[in-house]
Formats: sequence, structure tokens, C-alpha cells
Amino acid sequence: MKTKVLMVCLGNICRSPLAEGILQSKVDQDDVLVDSAGTAGYHIGNPPDKRSIAVAQKYGLNIKNQKCRKFSKKDFTEFDHIYVMDRSNFSDIASLAENQEQANKVKLLLSEAEMDIREVPDPYYGGTDGFENVYQMIDTACEAIAKKLN
Ligand code: 4NP
Repeated sequence: MKTKVLMVCLGNICRSPLAEGILQSKVDQDDVLVDSAGTAGYHIGNPPDKRSIAVAQKYGLNIKNQKCRKFSKKDFTEFDHIYVMDRSNFSDIASLAENQEQANKVKLLLSEAEMDIREVPDPYYGGTDGFENVYQMIDTACEAIAKKLN
């Protein structure tokens, strides 16, 4: 059975699409399924933000065919691990859990790597250097997750 990992942010157009693409590139896709979702539904059906697509492309990843979707309670049964980008995502998702087993699936992405920072900042309202910064943080965390999964 495949291990299923869900990456979650607010809009599912900036951070979690990068996390989906980056982790996917580091694992064996026969063994691990990676998806992403947002806590909000502002951008449902849209591709990732152009700035996320560009920074991914810079590192050889194509994320432009991803489609934004909203987190749904059934994701708690579908997925083994639910990684959130910040504490606000954490409380939004944890508040939807119906039991302790579901709540235990929710973790801050950056808690998987030894880093000084705990949250992936929202780059939406900033410049492109925010996306580079976010890419590097997510990459470090995904490297640690991939080591555990592979
Ligand atoms: P994300 O960034 O949570 O990393 O996808 C955001 C994208 C869109 C909005 C907020 C954050 N928004 O307010 O539309």
C-alpha cells in the first residue's frame, strides 16, 4: 500500500503546490502518493501562482498542471500524513479532526527538519525572493521526509 502525504496551506496556490512537487521529486512514486489542498476555497480549480510555477521551474520541477482544491474531512481517512505550512493552517485543520487518530496526522511541515523556523511564511503578498526563500525551506523539510519514507 502506498503511503499518502497531503501538503496543506491557506490558498493551495503558493506553498503547498511547491511542497507537493518537491516531495514528489524526492520519493519513489510507486510507493508514495503526494497531493496538496488549501484550507480556503478562494482559488479552487486554478493552477498554482505564477511565482511558484517559476521558482519550481528554476529547480527543474513542473508544477503547472496542478489544480487547486480545498481540504475536505475525507482527507483525514485518505492520507497518512498531513503537513501544514503554518500554525493558522494547523488550527484550521486540527479543528476538523473527529478523533485523536486524525488529529495526530497533522504536523507542521518544518517540524520534520531541524530548522530555526517553525512556519513557512505566506509569500502571496510579497516579492519573488519570498518564493525562493519558501522553496528552500520546503526543500529542506521534504528532504528529511523523503529520507524517512524511502
Ligand atoms: P498559499 O498563499 O496559502 O501559500 O497558497 C496564499 C494564496 C492566496 C491567498 C492567501 C495565501 N489569498 O488570500 O488569496
